[in-house]
Amino acid sequence: MVVGKIKTLIFGAGGMLGKDLCSVFPDAVKLKHGDIDITDRERVIESIRNIKPDVVINSAAYTDVDGCEDNQELAFEVNGRALGYIAQGCSLAGAKLVHFSTDYVFDGSKEEYVESDITCPINVYGESKLLGERNIIENIGDYRIIRTSWLFGLYGGNFIDTMLRLSCEMDTVSVVDDQFGKPTYTADLARKTAEVIGLAPGIYHITNEGVCSWYEFAAEVIDNIVPCSSDEFLRKAKRPEYSVLVNTKTAPMRDWKVALADYLSVRGNGISIRG
Ligand SMILES: NC(=O)c1ccc[n+]([C@@H]2O[C@H](COP(=O)([O-])OP(=O)(O)OC[C@H]3O[C@@H](n4cnc5c(N)ncnc54)[C@H](OP(=O)(O)O)[C@@H]3O)[C@@H](O)[C@H]2O)c1
Repeated sequence: MVVGKIKTLIFGAGGMLGKDLCSVFPDAVKLKHGDIDITDRERVIESIRNIKPDVVINSAAYTDVDGCEDNQELAFEVNGRALGYIAQGCSLAGAKLVHFSTDYVFDGSKEEYVESDITCPINVYGESKLLGERNIIENIGDYRIIRTSWLFGLYGGNFIDTMLRLSCEMDTVSVVDDQFGKPTYTADLARKTAEVIGLAPGIYHITNEGVCSWYEFAAEVIDNIVPCSSDEFLRKAKRPEYSVLVNTKTAPMRDWKVALADYLSVRGNGISIRG
């Protein structure tokens, strides 16, 4: 692993994945939202040129999928156009760029998606993240775009924490059983990111292994649960039915159930670690 020998700059260091990246890259320059707004083009380019990193890792994003429907301009600026600014800064500084994208760039009409499959987002979040991918590819050759899905981790509100809370608050919890994907532990993803930096430029699909529905995911941690359909649980943003990312380029990560057991053992029974 090349972690100790390279100068790394992390944008989005305060987020759920960002904090795990900070543990994997302890010597990195770590910038949180309060330190820099990635939509500020001049500051982004100036920061990258001043810091002169070998690698820039961006995990900053506007990740509220339903919120993106209401705040489209913000979504396209943060998830889309800002990636052009970061890519331009990297290009000027001669730095590699590693960025995280999403399974939601696909429409879910196929059961599985490899890296070269045609994208076709069905919600604003997916469209804005796809714009980010395109802006990177247009502005820099030395990029790694890591598409991932269904993140859970110690440092953010996530689906598993929500299920554990609702299980205490409600007699039964209804969870959709007709959307399928691959849950991914942010600690595993952060470690894998260090490996992907050393691989060829391009798009990577990186998730834990194993496919489940949201219902099956929740059923690993709570008992008072009943399946329901997406039609019974309407959300502002449409979600793809299948968003199963297939990794054809690098060694697979462990099964999501093993990763989840690890997460639960570290997390304990209290609320998630924040701050
Ligand atoms: N979570 C998932 O299930 C999932 C699935 C697929 C892909 N991804 C992708 O994985 C990456 C990491 O996701 P995550 O779940 O770790 O996200 P997260 O916890 O929401 O972290 C995102 C971070 O970006 C910061 N941010 C937002 N707008 C910014 C701006 N304009 N300038 C600078 N920083 C800004 C946020 O700060 P504030 O909180 O202060 O706004 C937050 O600290 C993202 O690219 C996301 O699209 C996530």
